[in-house]
Amino acid sequence: MALKRKLYSGQDFRRALSIAELREVARRREPHFAFEYVDSGAEDEVTLRRNRAAFEALAFVPGLLVDTTGRNQRRMMLGQEAAAPLVIAPTALNGVHCRDGDLALARAAAAAGIPFCLSTFANVRLERLAREVAGRHWMQLYLLTDRAIARDIVARADAAGFEALVVTADANVFGQREWDKRNYRGPGRLTLRNMLDVMRHPRWLVDVMWPQGFPRFANVYDFLPPEARSARAGVAYLPRLLQPDISWADLEWLRKAWPRKLLLKGVLSPADAERAAELGCDAVVLSNHGGRQLDGCVSPLEMLPEARAAVGDTCELYIDSGFRRGTDVLKALALGAQGVLIGAATLYGLAAGGEAGARHALDILSGEIDRALGQLGCRELGELGPQVLRRCPAP
Ligand SMILES: Cc1cc2nc3c(=O)[nH]c(=O)nc-3n(C[C@H](O)[C@H](O)[C@H](O)COP(=O)(O)O)c2cc1C
Repeated sequence: MALKRKLYSGQDFRRALSIAELREVARRREPHFAFEYVDSGAEDEVTLRRNRAAFEALAFVPGLLVDTTGRNQRRMMLGQEAAAPLVIAPTALNGVHCRDGDLALARAAAAAGIPFCLSTFANVRLERLAREVAGRHWMQLYLLTDRAIARDIVARADAAGFEALVVTADANVFGQREWDKRNYRGPGRLTLRNMLDVMRHPRWLVDVMWPQGFPRFANVYDFLPPEARSARAGVAYLPRLLQPDISWADLEWLRKAWPRKLLLKGVLSPADAERAAELGCDAVVLSNHGGRQLDGCVSPLEMLPEARAAVGDTCELYIDSGFRRGTDVLKALALGAQGVLIGAATLYGLAAGGEAGARHALDILSGEIDRALGQLGCRELGELGPQVLRRCPAP
């Protein structure tokens, strides 16, 4: 009988050849609820699928017989050179995939020579990150009910020397990730099926949970009421802190309060990108939150050319949502993105093998970038432009 094609899903993350394969290793290694938290999108997951489909609608047109020895993928981002056009995106609860998961991801980023962005809902205090990990650090900010939380984070990130503040604007109302929610019978309470599944992952229990239990939301902890301070209660409580009243006035205030680079994340409309640039943002992150917020919305890649035209040279454009291959990254750069934020791809690496697994994810992506750059007939990222792409119906 002929063997069927099958992605590797064993224990050794080093054998993963692609992000899709790292995802399979992660799926096996951690409890289902932790994996689903990363993997699921909002409602029918139409946005999640669209993010991927948008890449397939763009095809490369390579140039031939160009000497591409000595290729490099260095990129200026926010005025400093990075070794690759990548940034680790801010993600909450990294501590459920690996002990001190935020530090592990930051170390992987530093080793790869790229910036790391810490989430407001990280499990490690921003001061500890600054103290323990060298490298470029950006701080993500959610504007929560009490603006005192934002004032506190801004002041602390400033004192700790963070390079940039990334204000996330597309979570004014928390997205409904139904597949994630189905793992709970009530806020913060796993179903019996999921509790049994956790027991089937003793190594994860020892490596990640023992002895301190579920990781805390270290950067907002002091602002939580006592009954929401346990991490389990926090998971249920924090989404309620997200605020429907956030407005451009908040961004104006932050521009005055934050002395260094300011980015607005979650932008999809060219008009919003333009307004952010006019308000003094140094960059905009085109994003639909990895398909986790509004279902049925455009992919940031589809909006990139218009956004590029809208902001011109007034600010840099970054992008995320659905990037799983080096070729995806090159498509975005060819359309005018300065860099790409990577969310789920490095989290699969983290879940599959901690810091080394996250490094493996970054190695996979930069290996793919390097190969595709050569196959396109380019030596440097600056040579990419719309000439290497054609819009075609997806195969
Ligand atoms: C598990 C997870 C948690 C996230 N938490 C945050 C967060 O705390 N703040 C934020 O601005 N974005 C958050 N995001 C969105 C990411 O910053 C990023 O926009 C998204 O992951 C990009 O899509 P990708 O996962 O397909 O790469 C999260 C994404 C994931 C997968």
